[in-house]
Amino acid sequence: MQKILIKNIKKLVQVREDGAFVVKGKEMDSLPCISDAWLAIDNGIIADYGTMADFPGIADWKDLQVIDAAEKMVFPCWVDSHTHIVYAGSREQEFTDRIRGLSYEEIAQRGGGILNSVKKLQNASEEELIQQALPRLQEMIQQGTGAVEIKSGYGLSLESELKMLRVIKKIKEHSPLTIKATFLGAHAFPQEYKHNKRAYMDIIINEMIPMVAQEKLAEFIDVFCEQNYFSFDETITILEAGKKYGLIPKVHAQQMSHSGGVEAGTRCGAISVDHLEYVNEADIQLLLASKTMPVILPGAAYFIGLPNPPARNMIDAGLPLAISSDYNPGTSPTGNMNLMQSIACIQYKITPNEAINAATLNSAYAMNVEKELGSISIGKKANILITKKIPSSDFIAYAFGSNMIESVFLNGTLVK
Ligand code: NIG
Ligand code: FE
Repeated sequence: MQKILIKNIKKLVQVREDGAFVVKGKEMDSLPCISDAWLAIDNGIIADYGTMADFPGIADWKDLQVIDAAEKMVFPCWVDSHTHIVYAGSREQEFTDRIRGLSYEEIAQRGGGILNSVKKLQNASEEELIQQALPRLQEMIQQGTGAVEIKSGYGLSLESELKMLRVIKKIKEHSPLTIKATFLGAHAFPQEYKHNKRAYMDIIINEMIPMVAQEKLAEFIDVFCEQNYFSFDETITILEAGKKYGLIPKVHAQQMSHSGGVEAGTRCGAISVDHLEYVNEADIQLLLASKTMPVILPGAAYFIGLPNPPARNMIDAGLPLAISSDYNPGTSPTGNMNLMQSIACIQYKITPNEAINAATLNSAYAMNVEKELGSISIGKKANILITKKIPSSDFIAYAFGSNMIESVFLNGTLVK
């Protein structure tokens, strides 16, 4: 594989050799950078970097591709630790219904919402699902994303959940992105089990989890812990059942009410609890005593008009914070991580530095890739982006709605 040298970089951003895999509290507002820098990539890996003033001679570097990044910045690619990008069709009718006054809950009660996507997915073939997911991933790459977690959860039957997870596996085999799969059979109760929840729980625990583990189709298990979805006790039961098969817990927590998702997640040793619109002081204390990453999903809160998660309070209390897109057809039909950072900055008073830490190293932690991605560190995968000419790193969140990403390298190969 070719060696690449990027030189004259205005700023090399998020450079870490301190062994830190999580950034929290006050540290989140500091972003280690090198001005006027160079970066070398060898065999898909970050090989070295430094300042142009100390640039070593390159006479003996063979097969070297040299890129001049004058006035441009280099960042590690965004890591998106929470998406549902394998889905069939779209749900803009529900979007319009909400504009006319219906709530997300009312739409769900009429058989819309998650169950609308379940119907569509059950009728789609694996090939159709792949063909619909690929352009979404392609667009995410164009916007600077280099790693994506993808959940099941629009199947809700053994057959369809496995279909979704096999689709994710195929995408993973063919995509340059780093991809991780999450089993989310507990996303909603299927219509036919609305009055027999125990029976669906049994299917998840006795049929789905063992098959998912046997076929090695997922690394994580997630539950939508919410009123009318899965209760606190049901969430714990499912996460514990998954843990017995080696699946790492995650929770859709406290998006629409104070449902106990943070307590369930921290108690089960979840790697992340996501959404967090209804987090209170007691939850912050639970998170402080845990290794669980709080993940906010600004696109979903914005798109369906939820209250802002108390992200500022969480950081001020000393917590780490990650940002992801929640890309899905119902609550966040975009995977644009630049926009996610802008929303977090504008609506939640997160600084651009905090947003960049949240969208790189901390979101890498939330998908268990912090040792290979999320910062410019020697030995990490060369998933990096080069910006257009920008005056400062704050400009990415500031220029909301614009794409300031000029090129993207995944595993050291130019893909944009
Ligand atoms: O993360 N909250 C639950 N799940 C998704 C929404 C899924 C849907 O509406 O299709 C979310 O927001
Ligand atoms: Fe989600």
